[in-house]
Parts: sequence; structure tokens; C-alpha cells
Amino acid sequence: MNTDYFAHKASSYEQDPSRVDNVGNIADSILQSIDFDSSMHIMDFGSGTGLLLQKVAPYVARITAVDVSNAMNMQLQAKRNDLGCAIEIIEIDLAKADIDYRFDGIISSMTMHHIENIEAMFGKFYSMLNDGGFIAISDLDVEDGSFHTEDTGVFHFGFDRGEFAKLASRAGFQTIRVSSASSIRKPQGDFPVFLLTATR
Ligand SMILES: C[S@@+](CC[C@H](N)C(=O)[O-])C[C@H]1O[C@@H](n2cnc3c(N)ncnc32)[C@H](O)[C@@H]1O
Repeated sequence: MNTDYFAHKASSYEQDPSRVDNVGNIADSILQSIDFDSSMHIMDFGSGTGLLLQKVAPYVARITAVDVSNAMNMQLQAKRNDLGCAIEIIEIDLAKADIDYRFDGIISSMTMHHIENIEAMFGKFYSMLNDGGFIAISDLDVEDGSFHTEDTGVFHFGFDRGEFAKLASRAGFQTIRVSSASSIRKPQGDFPVFLLTATR
């Protein structure tokens, strides 16, 4: 059985204004970078309580929310009827299991640092996309390990943008762009956040 690292955080997850602001900034960057259209079926990887997908929902037909945490999925479930498109929630560990769908795009915020093998996950994203499909993946720049004050299953203290882009390229992605998307202010410092976009 999987450990639900977010079990005790899920119900208060959206009560942290800096977290909500950060995902709002990421959503704005994604909306500026990607031409969404109302026929699209996209996946949100590590969808959590739905902070990211709820901003994108009005611009697409359908979103498949993928998250391993039952507690986070329950939070999303509670608001699914108020979102702007059809929502399907799939509770799996995407590092271990597969979904037999093809998406027009994959979005993700603040989840990749919980994934051990980034190159393998980029390869999985590639195989889950229609030709011409996109990824829009946001996460922390390299940090000193002080970002997380509790264990949420962290494998990476952020990412070097160039290295992260190289792994996406090795998986076959093209037109790779990395830009600054947000910055999270915590008592221990400021933590910049990037957005990588690319196409299959
Ligand atoms: C920091 S939260 C981010 C949630 C949301 N994207 C946001 O920005 O508010 C990371 C989420 O990724 C999920 N997650 C981590 N590893 C995962 C995996 N291997 N498969 C599916 N979900 C995963 C966690 O359960 C958690 O809900």
C-alpha cells in the first residue's frame, strides 16, 4: 500500500495563502504559454486539491486528475461540480502504474520533486500524449533542502533548469522552453519556481 504523505495536510492545504498564490502564478504562466481550446482533454499530474486544474478547467473540455493521495483526491472531489469542465479523478501512483489514455496536454505543479526518476516520468508523459500534445510542468528551482519542513516524500531539492530540460529532451520532447513562473516566500527564504513547456 502507498503511504499517503498528504493525509494530514489535505484538509488545511488551501489555507496557506502563499501556496494558493504560488499555484495561481503558475496557472497564469501556463495560460499565457499554452493555446488551450475547448475540445482538449488534459491530465493534471499530482492534482492535489485541484488548485491548478480549477484555473485551467474553463478553457478545456475534460481534465483527468491523477493523484496518489486519497485525502487530496477527497478535497478535489468535494469541489468537482463547481469546476468549469468534466473532471475525472484517478487515484494511482503514476511512477508505478499506467493510464491507457492519450491526452492533448499534461499540466503539473509542485509534484515532480516527489518523483524519483524524472527521465522515466518524462518518457511516460511522452507516451501519454497525442502527436503535437504539450507538457506544462512547474516546480521549484534548486533549493538547499529547507523548503519542506516535514516529510512529504521528497526526492529532489528542486531542479536545475538546464538539467530538467535535458531530461525532457532525452524523452523526445521538442520546443522546450523554461521560464520563471513564481516565487514562494517562506520565513526561511524565497523559493523561485519555473515552468517548463514542450511539445511531442
Ligand atoms: C505538493 S502537492 C501539489 C498539488 C497541486 N498540484 C498544487 O500545486 O497545489 C504534490 C501532489 O502530488 C501527488 N503525488 C506525488 N507523487 C505522486 C505519484 N507518484 N503519483 C501520483 N501523484 C503523486 C501528491 O499526492 C500531492 O497531492
